[in-house]
Amino acid sequence: MNEALEKIKQKILDGEAQLTNSKAVYEFKKSFLDSKTGKIGQLMKEMRNIPPEERAGYGKGVNELKEWANQFFSDIEEKIKEKELQLKYESEKIDVTMPAKSVETGNLHPITQMRNQLIDVFTGMGFEVYEGTEIENDYYNFTALNTPKDHPARDMQDTFYLSPEFLLRTQTSSGQIHVMESKKPPIKIISPGKVFRSDDDATHSPMFTQMEGLVVDENITLCDLQGMLDMFVKKIYGDGTVTRLRPSYFPFTEPSVEVDCSCFECGGKGCKLCKGTGWIEILGAGMVNKKVLENCGIDSEKYSGFAFGIGIERTAMLKYGINNIKLLFESDLRVLKQLDD
Ligand code: DAH
Repeated sequence: MNEALEKIKQKILDGEAQLTNSKAVYEFKKSFLDSKTGKIGQLMKEMRNIPPEERAGYGKGVNELKEWANQFFSDIEEKIKEKELQLKYESEKIDVTMPAKSVETGNLHPITQMRNQLIDVFTGMGFEVYEGTEIENDYYNFTALNTPKDHPARDMQDTFYLSPEFLLRTQTSSGQIHVMESKKPPIKIISPGKVFRSDDDATHSPMFTQMEGLVVDENITLCDLQGMLDMFVKKIYGDGTVTRLRPSYFPFTEPSVEVDCSCFECGGKGCKLCKGTGWIEILGAGMVNKKVLENCGIDSEKYSGFAFGIGIERTAMLKYGINNIKLLFESDLRVLKQLDD
């Protein structure tokens, strides 16, 4: 019988090499020590078939084997647990020197960036922001701005009419009227916002963004306008930039001017951007027409003012070197990601 016990012991020892994890140990241990199905457990059941005089010796042998096996498995279990714990610690180890995973961040749309920059520059000079509405009536968009129904200047702005009276504003100049109706001078506001015209090519879009400026007070002159514009172009296009005024025509300003700034690409020598002239047209402006002041109940003998209108897409296109306005509206991330200041 001793031989049978020896065989079992040898089987256990032979199996040791395969015991690489707790589950394997559990299964292997069970196959020997389970009281019903285990090989050692079954040896106990054999007891009744053993002749009575051999029973004591047999029982002792089985018990010794059982004790040995219990000790053997608990030693292995301890080793395996230790090893598994070590592996767990390894796998959970945090390397604090590893570089962080980079998080992709978005950026503001170039039009929003440009708009914010312009607002920053002008609020820095004491301007307040007035945001008008995109739907206007004919009076605020045209008539009060000295552009009555039959005025030829209306043809310059192909208008989206919503009804005979209401329209999508074609210019932020309509904001001037709302402000002058509700506020007495001194007035110093900018009015950024979307405007709409039935116009569509490489440099025009049916929806675009303007920023109107209006200053009304006693003794305001064209010199004040140019002084302020000079500050403005230096902040947006760089320190060396200067402006020049050319005579122009807008119904709501008299005199009216077209404002150019010296080419910030070539410094005025002449290049592709300024088409060899050294100058780039950046906005329209002028002294507020007395008729417009009077339409808003402001005494045009006592007060004078200047106004200007900036195209925000145009400013952004010049600044970022974009030749097609559509690139600003197509939401192509490859383009938009490059335009981050
Ligand atoms: N409203 C004009 C336009 O959309 C731009 C403009 C020109 C605004 C002269 C002004 C100004 O305030 O004085 O073309």
